[in-house]
Amino acid sequence: MYQDRIRRPALLNKVMDAQQAAQLFRSGMSVGMSGFTRAGDAKALPLALVERARREPLSLTLITGASLGNDSDGLMAEAGLLARRLPFQSDAALRRKINAGEVMFIDQHLSETAEQLRSRSLAAVDIAVIEASAILADGSIVPTMSVGNSASFAQQAGQIIIELNLSTPLALEGLHDIYVPGARPGRAPIPLTSPEQRIGVASIAVDPARIAAIVITDSPDSPSTVQPPDAETAAIAGHVIAFLEGEVAAGRMGPQLLPLQAGIGSIANAVLHGLIGSPFHDMTMFSEVLQDSAIELLDSGQLAMASASSITLSAPMHEKFMRDIARYRDKIVLRPQEISNHPEIVRRLGIIALNTALEFDLYGNVNSTHVCGTHMMNGIGGSGDFARNGQLSLFVSKSVAKGGRVSSVVPMVSHVDHTEHDVDVLVSEWGLADLRGLAPRERAPLIIERCAHPDYRPQLRAYFDAACRRGGHTPHVLEQALSWHTRYQADGTMLDA
Ligand code: COA
Repeated sequence: MYQDRIRRPALLNKVMDAQQAAQLFRSGMSVGMSGFTRAGDAKALPLALVERARREPLSLTLITGASLGNDSDGLMAEAGLLARRLPFQSDAALRRKINAGEVMFIDQHLSETAEQLRSRSLAAVDIAVIEASAILADGSIVPTMSVGNSASFAQQAGQIIIELNLSTPLALEGLHDIYVPGARPGRAPIPLTSPEQRIGVASIAVDPARIAAIVITDSPDSPSTVQPPDAETAAIAGHVIAFLEGEVAAGRMGPQLLPLQAGIGSIANAVLHGLIGSPFHDMTMFSEVLQDSAIELLDSGQLAMASASSITLSAPMHEKFMRDIARYRDKIVLRPQEISNHPEIVRRLGIIALNTALEFDLYGNVNSTHVCGTHMMNGIGGSGDFARNGQLSLFVSKSVAKGGRVSSVVPMVSHVDHTEHDVDVLVSEWGLADLRGLAPRERAPLIIERCAHPDYRPQLRAYFDAACRRGGHTPHVLEQALSWHTRYQADGTMLDA
């Protein structure tokens, strides 16, 4: 009964189907949609818009929290609906359109989109489409499994479409903490000093007069696609845990560690999974997305609480989470992504940031986004928000990709997302390089011997020796610096013949 979830009776006459609501859109509009790493995304409007775009010209700028589920991004891209897309995506079909130059993708730090909308650096959102589990008497909305940028979209949009998802439990109410920073200049400090703190309200404020449509849905979020841990990711986890044990032994942190952030993907999930049974306890997370591993750590009793902007789970974990929601709700806070990722808070809390690299170079520069320097994978996401501002910034990667034909340790990264200045520790299945306090010439041998695959070590040593003979603070043989990537493109392998 959707009527129970619309607690402002005057809004009941706004209920319509997705096809009717899709008529509110005009070509050229900027649309803000909920959805963050496949969680809490609108389920019906994207499909209704795709239907329209197949019949008539319709192209939009689409801003979300992060990636969408239900293949929405791919379907919208293939229907020609997306002229411009930001700030993150992870869909294979959309990726193809982006790399073909057909969709203009703006790859942004996830904390920044709301700021850029607020300061009008980005054109204002015309329509917001937000998934909710309930509409409260004051017209405010209870979001579902993510908050993302929805509060800012709702503040700014001229028209708001709410997708009321009946498959979400009403017990989600109380999970969220909505705080929107004030305008600049003269903004007050964000009053968050510990991960569990609640500084806002439990629902997203909405001017009821701007609610243009309410669409009823009942589809669940798409399950996450992370792969279970394998031998290599387990080895990476082992190195990270040994390193953290060393930090505790050296007195740089206690056995509760510092608040943890872990990025998306299989590797970061496996590393967190590896913390189960470790000597650490009373840990906290201050992250942007919670994957299965966070729930497992809550269950093991080692994680006291977790703060994030979204929860993206596998199908069995999703079922378990929804069954026990009342228990988890006390230990989880979902925040707008500009708060979960805010540089001010990340710096204040002293986060341990754990993110995944596609490749890193001899000096510690990291590429998280561009295959061979040109082709977008997913986007920088929140990795930069945390890596730059955390107390400890770790990047993990398997030492090789594509069956060993690609080395993740290269002479020079083909695109830089995280500079050497933001990277403290690099980890592969072979070992861990602690770069803190080291100059470039000290970093390179450590990275080669600890992180590179043994097959690639002789080539890397030879490159570094030749580079040192040329001199410089950060030695390079410039005409060869990207030759590993061009060799891969020409011969299908980075390995020397
Ligand atoms: N060159 C080319 N391809 C590479 C590569 C390299 N150096 N390293 C990895 N890949 C490919 C893998 O082969 C795999 O391809 P496939 O899907 O065709 O098999 C793909 O990249 C994913 O790699 P995988 O090893 O499965 O790691 P992952 O699932 O953990 O994802 C990233 C790794 C880097 C793509 C992912 O973590 C990401 O998008 N990061 C950027 C955003 C981010 O860090 N957000 C953090 C805050 S949430």
